[in-house]
This record gives sequence, structure tokens and C-alpha cells, in this order.
Amino acid sequence: EELEVLYKRRPRPEYIPNHIPDPDYVRIFDTTLRDGEQSPGATLTSNEKLEIARMLAKLGVDIIEAGFPIASPDDFAAVKQIADVVGNEVFEDGYVPVICGLSRANEKDIARAWDAVKGAKLPRVHTFIATSKIHMETKLNKTPDQVVEIAVNAVKYAKSLGCNDIEFSPEDAGRSDPEFLYRILSAVIEAGATTLNIPDTTGWNMPWEFGGLIEQLRANVTGADKVVFSTHCQNDLGLATANSLAGALNGARQLECTINGIGERAGNASLEEVCMALALKGDEQFKGGPGTGKLYTGINPVHISPTSKMVSEYTGMMCQPHKAIVGANAFKHESGIHQDGMIKNKSTYEIMTPESIGLMRGDQESGAGIVLGKHSGRNAVGTRLRELGYDLEPEKLNAVFARFKEVAEKKKGGLEDEDLEALVTDQAGLTN
Ligand code: KIV
Repeated sequence: EELEVLYKRRPRPEYIPNHIPDPDYVRIFDTTLRDGEQSPGATLTSNEKLEIARMLAKLGVDIIEAGFPIASPDDFAAVKQIADVVGNEVFEDGYVPVICGLSRANEKDIARAWDAVKGAKLPRVHTFIATSKIHMETKLNKTPDQVVEIAVNAVKYAKSLGCNDIEFSPEDAGRSDPEFLYRILSAVIEAGATTLNIPDTTGWNMPWEFGGLIEQLRANVTGADKVVFSTHCQNDLGLATANSLAGALNGARQLECTINGIGERAGNASLEEVCMALALKGDEQFKGGPGTGKLYTGINPVHISPTSKMVSEYTGMMCQPHKAIVGANAFKHESGIHQDGMIKNKSTYEIMTPESIGLMRGDQESGAGIVLGKHSGRNAVGTRLRELGYDLEPEKLNAVFARFKEVAEKKKGGLEDEDLEALVTDQAGLTN
């Protein structure tokens, strides 16, 4: 409820490509359908992509990266359908999502991306070229001067097609020479780029390094105040969420992420982690960068769990049980000490409620709540039995609890309500 109030109090600012009218607002750019689909084995059909895109818009993401249109005719068709349909629908609080298509920095890719997205009310083209020494020398076989020229021409070409929302990414920025980044980023701003996305493509940066990089770029790139800085953090060292938040702390106002953190190799920053961290801590922790430090997003967290489940189901990529926010165990409590605390006050062991992300507590399917297993205590077993209508005398409860411990020792996954009821019935049979 508190989260709902927070979102109602802070309306989403008007969308202007290169400027956010409220400096505390953080745009969420979701790339589940592009980088997420690059997870090995996570192929989606066009219809599944359309459904996910609509769900992302319901969740409140500002920009949906719908795919890489040059990759195949199917990819092109899927991006075009999302742009034509979801890109023209009006969602909660009257907003229309930006639909973005990825392209390498060449005319063929850019024209294809623009053709795919231009039917949206708010179309964006995202173009990129690598800027680290290793990528320029061994992958592209280009000099830094050539790379700057290609990047500038790419942005100018997108602009010449009529696109006024152009994102540029220096791929592998996390391992690039900062001086070279100042140069290429200043040049693409001059050419017309509106968002500068800084990818830590290999997940190489520590949070303080990545935050420092954003700070340095904002200070040294000519025209930095005329664009929105963005993060794109891969998770190779498990730091993608921390690095994205470090970016926000240092003035990035667009964070790229995916549902369940899916993506190349170890994946991307997970949308649910980044957004819940901002929802819970955004008011106090983010001093630095533009604005007052009271950061917020347009995400409505009650749609997080349904979106996560849809993405798992359609991609076939299940979350590990202890995945933060959306893992099956994220709101389960098994040990006696924790269960006792939870029965007395839920805030003893929960920093957010399952309901706030769209899960029902006590619902067997969601599994959120108390799990009666071998570490559970008498208080939790007695409380659940009372909820089921069995108000047992202390000695009977002791006897049922002793039997419960014996059974729970051997039963993986904990005891269900029917198991508990069977214990009470058995006990009654023994004592009668
Ligand atoms: O990881 C990466 O560098 C990317 C860019 C295209 C943004 O996905």
C-alpha cells in the first residue's frame, strides 16, 4: 500500500528524448526482448514478444528495446508489430512507452531499425560501436579515428531518416580509455545523439569504478548536460545491480535492465532488483548527480511477479529459488526463529511485502509465507493449525509437534496443510 501511494504521489514526467524535466526521475529501459533474448536457448515467438511487451508497458517501463531488427526477418516483424501496436497504446497514468530497435553503426542496420520502430508514437534507434582497445583492434580492425567517424556518421544517418530519439552506446565502455570516451561521446552529441548509454559489456567494473566513470563522463564530455546518461551493466561478477545503482548515484538517469536479469552469459542488471532498490531506498541514498537525491521510477511493482513468471514461462529460463525479489524462496520463511519473528511482526524478516510485488501471502502456488519444514518451531506449527481450525490443548500440540519433527526431517520441500491435518488425525487416533 505504501508503495502504491509513493507512485501515485510522484507522476511520471513528460517524455522528452534528451532531457528529463524532473532530475530525480530515473527512466527504466527494458531490454528483455533484445539482450534478454540473447540468453542461450531463450527464443521467443512474435506473439510471446508482443505479450511480454504489453506486460512491460503495464509494469511501467519507459523504453522497451523490442529487438535487433537486422538480425532476421522474424526479428524485424516482431519489433514492427510491437512498435505499431504497443507503441500506440496508452497505459496507466496516460503514458505511451518508447519503442526502441538496436542497430550496429552502419546505414543498412540503422535503416532497418528505423523502419521497424517508426510506426510507434515514440520511436527510438539505438546504435553502437565498440570503443575498447581490444575490440577496436581485434574485433573491428579499426583505428580510434575510424571508430569516431563511423559513430558520428551513424548518428547523423539516423537523424537524416527523421529519428529524433537516438541512443548511442560505446560498447565495452567499462574497459575503454576514458579519454577516448570523452572524445567519441562529445562527437556523437554534436551529431545528434540524445541518450548516451555506457555499457559495462563484460561486467568488469566494480561499483565504485563504474560510478566514477559516469561521474567523469558527465564532467568531461562536451554537451553532457544536453543528453541523458544511461547504464547497461552485465552481471559477470554478480555486480550488475550494484553497478547500475552506482551509475544512478552518479547521475545516470536511464538504467537498462531485463526481467529476471536474463541476458548474454551471466545476464544483465535485473529490473526487479534495480527498481525495488530504488523504490525502497531511492528517497534517502542517492545524493549526488543532478536533482535532490530522492530518486524514483515509473515502475508499478505490483506487476513484477506476474511479469517475471511470464518471462520465465515463455523463455523457459527459470529463476534460481533464492533469486532476489522473484525467486521461489524470496518470501519464504522456514526456520523456527524466523517464523516466530514473522508471526509477531512481518517486518522482523521482510524488507518488502510479497503483496507489493504482486504475490499473495499464504497462497500455495506463490509459496510466500511460512514453510513448515524441519527447522520450523512449535509456534509456527500451532499458528498454522489454528488457521486450519485446530485449536489443540498444549499436550496435544506437543505430541503433534514431536511427530511433525520426525516427519519433516525426512520430507523435502516442507509439509503441506494436508500433511499437518493428517498428523492431527493420526494423533487423535492414537490418543482415543
Ligand atoms: O552489452 C552491451 O554492450 C550491449 C550494447 C549493445 C548496449 O548490449
